[in-house]
Amino acid sequence: MVLDSHAVARARELREEYEGFLLEYRFGMREIETKIDILREEFAHTHAYNPIEHVTSRLKSLDSLAVKVERKGIATSIESMRSHVTDIAGIRITCTFVSDAYRLFDLLTRQDDIVVRSVKDYIAEPKPNGYKSLHAVVEVPVFLSSGRVHVPVEVQFRTIAMDFWASLEHKIHYKYQARVPPGLRASLKEAADSAAELDERMERLHGQVHGSPARRPESG
Ligand code: GTP
Ligand code: MG
Repeated sequence: MVLDSHAVARARELREEYEGFLLEYRFGMREIETKIDILREEFAHTHAYNPIEHVTSRLKSLDSLAVKVERKGIATSIESMRSHVTDIAGIRITCTFVSDAYRLFDLLTRQDDIVVRSVKDYIAEPKPNGYKSLHAVVEVPVFLSSGRVHVPVEVQFRTIAMDFWASLEHKIHYKYQARVPPGLRASLKEAADSAAELDERMERLHGQVHGSPARRPESG
C-alpha cells in the first residue's frame, strides 16, 4: 500500500486528535493510581500488612478502541465514545487474598469524591469460562484549566491466582481467535476452579497464622 501525503497528514491528525481525547483519561487514571498508592502506604503503616501485590494501568489504544466501537456499533464521534466506552482508562489491582480485593474495592468506592457507575462482581458470579474478578467503573473528578470534569476509570480487583488464570486464558483466547477447542475450554474451567480453591486454602492458612477472621467463615 502506498500512502499519499494527504493520507499521511490525515493519519497524523487523527492520532493527535486521539491523544488529546486521551489526556483526560490519563489524568483520571493518575488520580485513581494515587488513591491506591495512598491506601497501600497507609495500610502498610497502620496495619503492618500490604493487601496489594501489584497495580497495572493502561490507556486503550486507538486500535482496540476502533475494534470495540465496531463490535458494539457505537457511533465514532468523540461525544458518543465518551459516553459509551467506559474502559478507556483501566486499572488492575492484584491483591493477595479475595477478602483484600473486596476490602480495596470498599476503601476506594467509599471515598466521597468517587461516583460508582457500575459494578460487575465476577468473583461472586464467575463467567461461564471461569473468569473471576471484581469490576467497577468509577468516576473521578479531574481539575483542568477549563474546570472540573468527571472521568470514568475501569478498575479491576482480583487475586494473584485470578490474574494468573486470566492472563493464560487471554493468550489462549487470542491464539485461537476466540474459537477455543472444547477440550481446552474444559481444562481452562478446571484450572479456574483449582485457582479458586487455592485462593481459599491460602486465605484460610493465613487466617490460622494471623488469627484474622476469614471473609466467609465456614460453619461447623
Ligand atoms: P469488553 O467489551 O471486553 O470491555 O467487555 P464488557 O464491556 O462486557 O465488560 P466486562 O466487564 O465483561 O470485561 C471487561 C474486561 O474484563 C475485559 O476487557 C478484560 O480485561 C476482562 N475480562 C472480562 N472477561 C474476561 C475473560 O473471559 N477472560 C479474560 N482473560 N479477561 C476478561
Ligand atoms: Mg474492555
